[in-house]
Amino acid sequence: KANLSTQWLGKEIIYFSEVDSTQRVAHELAKNGVPHGTVVITDEQTEGKGRLGRTWFSEKGKGIWMSFILRPSFAYHQALQITLFTSVVLANTLKKLYQRNFLIKWPNDIYINGKKVSGILTEMHGEQDQIHYMIIGIGINTHQITFPENLKEIATSIQQETGYIPKRIELIQHFFTEFEQDYSRFEGEGFMPFYKQYNDALYGKGRRIQLKQVNQQIEGTIMCIDSNGYLILQEDDGKEAKVVSGDIFF
Ligand code: BTN
Repeated sequence: KANLSTQWLGKEIIYFSEVDSTQRVAHELAKNGVPHGTVVITDEQTEGKGRLGRTWFSEKGKGIWMSFILRPSFAYHQALQITLFTSVVLANTLKKLYQRNFLIKWPNDIYINGKKVSGILTEMHGEQDQIHYMIIGIGINTHQITFPENLKEIATSIQQETGYIPKRIELIQHFFTEFEQDYSRFEGEGFMPFYKQYNDALYGKGRRIQLKQVNQQIEGTIMCIDSNGYLILQEDDGKEAKVVSGDIFF
């Protein structure tokens, strides 16, 4: 059992040496009523889930694969911003611990030296006016020295980029402490207090990108995000486009 200094986040930690997906287990537990802040963590996932139906490569002992349950008191639109909020907290934590320039690729990938080191998957359960629970899933590549061929060019690990061998418990402790502190502010004031920090860490500012959405594709230059968390792109005709969702391709 980890000895954490937090009030609610990680007070209950459920550990597996192997599981299909901590995200799936967390849903199961949440349905059965486990408290706000319960964490599910594993050494290995056989069916790790990524965003947009992708799989998440979760090799044994090479990373932090965890999901935690929130029972938020806030409204739906704020629930959409929690992913962005979580990225800020995670980037801050990694910067503090490893003294490198961790950036955020909108909406919620953590990058270092142009490669992805961590991803966040947020899922919610409930209706527009009442969220029953949210599951925040975080994958952090800590120890990989090599990646499979298809990931080599796009993924990296903390060890690979910094030479530092992260201690899982230390990283989690710092992240939970920071998340809990900032979360009460987020509950009260929303994303507003955090969007400047997000912009400071925004990856690819000034670069021309393609934004792929379900039904369309936009091209433009990354400007910033606004206080709601929307991405502002400048299109070639000079007009600004505000986007709520999608995937960035450089
Ligand atoms: C992404 O970038 O696509 C999000 C990746 C999220 C991966 C984590 S690992 C722990 C948790 N369990 C899962 O199955 N997925 C998330």
